[in-house]
Amino acid sequence: MGRLDDKVALVTGSARGIGKGIATVLAREGATVIVADLLSDLAGETAAELGNDYGVSTLALEMDVTSEDSIASNVEKAVSEFGRIDILVNNAGVPPENFGQAETEADWDICYEVNLKGIWKVTSAVAPKMQEQGGGKIVNIASIAGRIGGGMASYSASKAGAISITQSQAAELGRFNINVNAICPGLLWTDLWRQIEGMFAGDHAEEVVDRRERFEAVIASNMPLGREQRPEDIGNAVAFFASDEANNITGQSLNVDGGMRMN
Ligand SMILES: NC(=O)c1ccc[n+]([C@@H]2O[C@H](COP(=O)([O-])OP(=O)(O)OC[C@H]3O[C@@H](n4cnc5c(N)ncnc54)[C@H](O)[C@@H]3O)[C@@H](O)[C@H]2O)c1
Repeated sequence: MGRLDDKVALVTGSARGIGKGIATVLAREGATVIVADLLSDLAGETAAELGNDYGVSTLALEMDVTSEDSIASNVEKAVSEFGRIDILVNNAGVPPENFGQAETEADWDICYEVNLKGIWKVTSAVAPKMQEQGGGKIVNIASIAGRIGGGMASYSASKAGAISITQSQAAELGRFNINVNAICPGLLWTDLWRQIEGMFAGDHAEEVVDRRERFEAVIASNMPLGREQRPEDIGNAVAFFASDEANNITGQSLNVDGGMRMN
């Protein structure tokens, strides 16, 4: 018996990285998992892998969280396949292309479109379905970058917005028995972090974006527990918010960051 048997979960940006870790834990807990991502081939591979490993039903969807048409048609596909969506995880996210003073308006636009408005758009499409069903659980993936601003203003501001919209959505949707919470991940060695690494270094050459020294140095000097987070760490926290154990928790943002930020 898993904690999420009979639940249907849609996870955006779950073809790889943190989203895949979240989808993995939800599948391990017995949920049917919908892998929704821009990267359709990889989404298909991830969905097949989870079905094989955990014996749950899965569906891969090519979905762009910035496009209302793409979201609407994919939510309809998911509901016609499984009849309901009990859990929505708004995980899709992008970093800016440039760092610090070099950030451009395009960086602000992409961070806001994906990291913040993407949450609003997907939730706007899924929450009415949850309302008809009598309730649901929504988990937004923010970041510790949203707790304290740093060298990526566009990204940090979009993530602070993700924490804020979590509170607004929790206030609006509570009367429909929909809980909305957020996770603020710390530092994970994913494709996203490797893009940031190249940005810090001002060089996107493969040997720069693939090196781990800076990543490990940031952890060693900033993280009391002194170890990186893994996608499954974020998945474990999501599974808690998505379970009945969290029925009376809403509007909260939980850092899963080895103690790097304590607010
Ligand atoms: N890696 C970290 O250290 C870290 C820390 C804090 C927060 N986060 C957040 O965690 C989330 C996942 O990041 P990750 O590190 O796994 O990155 P990642 O780049 O490995 O994965 C992001 C996924 O989102 C998908 N995606 C991007 N734009 C999309 C769109 N418009 N529509 C649908 N899917 C889209 C990508 O295709 C990719 O599969 C993001 O919201 C990120 O901001 C990451």
